[in-house]
Amino acid sequence: MKGIVFREFINMVEESFSPDMADKIISSSKLTTAGAYTSVGNYDHREIVELVSHLSAATGTSVPDLLRAFGEHLFGRFAVLYPSHFAAQVSAFEFISILDNKIHVEVQKLYPDAELPQFQHEFPTPDRMVVVYTSKRPFADLAEGLIRGCINYFGGGISLTRENLPCDEGAHTRFALTR
Ligand code: HEM
Repeated sequence: MKGIVFREFINMVEESFSPDMADKIISSSKLTTAGAYTSVGNYDHREIVELVSHLSAATGTSVPDLLRAFGEHLFGRFAVLYPSHFAAQVSAFEFISILDNKIHVEVQKLYPDAELPQFQHEFPTPDRMVVVYTSKRPFADLAEGLIRGCINYFGGGISLTRENLPCDEGAHTRFALTR
C-alpha cells in the first residue's frame, strides 16, 4: 500500500482524535517504519490494518466504521492532491464509471508499484449503478467510504447499498447506487 494512504490515515487520526492518539497507535503496532511513511514508499497493507485495529481498541469505534470514515476523508484528500482527475467530472456516476479504466490507470502510471483493486460497473437503469469491487486486500469498508465520499463530493442524493460476495482472500463486494 502506498505511503500516501498511510500518511493520510495518520493525519486524519491527528486531526480527528489527537497527535497523542496517533503516537499511541504507532507505538503499539509492529511497523517496519516506526510510522515515518514517505508518500511514494510502498508498505505492507497489513500495517494499516494493525493501526486501525489499535485505533478501534483505543476509541471503542469498530474497525469497519473507522475504515469507512477514513475512506470518506481520503476521497476529499484525493480531490486536493490530484485535482486534474476531478476537473472534468460532473457526477458520482460519471466519476465511478471512469475509476477503473482511467483514474486508477493513471495512478498506476504515477506509482508503478501501486496495488490497485478492480471495479466493474454497469447501469441496469439510467438511475441505478452497480459496482463490483474485487481486491486481494480486505478493504471493502475503505471502498465503501471512498464511494460515500465521492457521492458527498458531488452533492449527495444517491443511496448506497452493499452486498459482500463470497471470496477466498481479500474482498469481493457489490455496491448499488440509486439516484
Ligand atoms: C470513488 C472513488 C474511489 C474508490 C472507490 C477507490 C478505491 C480504492 C481502494 C478500495 C483502494 C485500496 C486498495 C485495495 O482495495 O486493494 C484504493 C487505493 C488507491 N487509490 Fe483509489 N479509489 C477511488 C478514487 C481514487 C482517486 C480519485 C485516486 C487518485 C487520483 C485514487 C488513488 C488511489 C491510490 C494512490 C491508492 C493506493 C494504491 C496502493 O496502495 O498501492 N483513488 N482505491
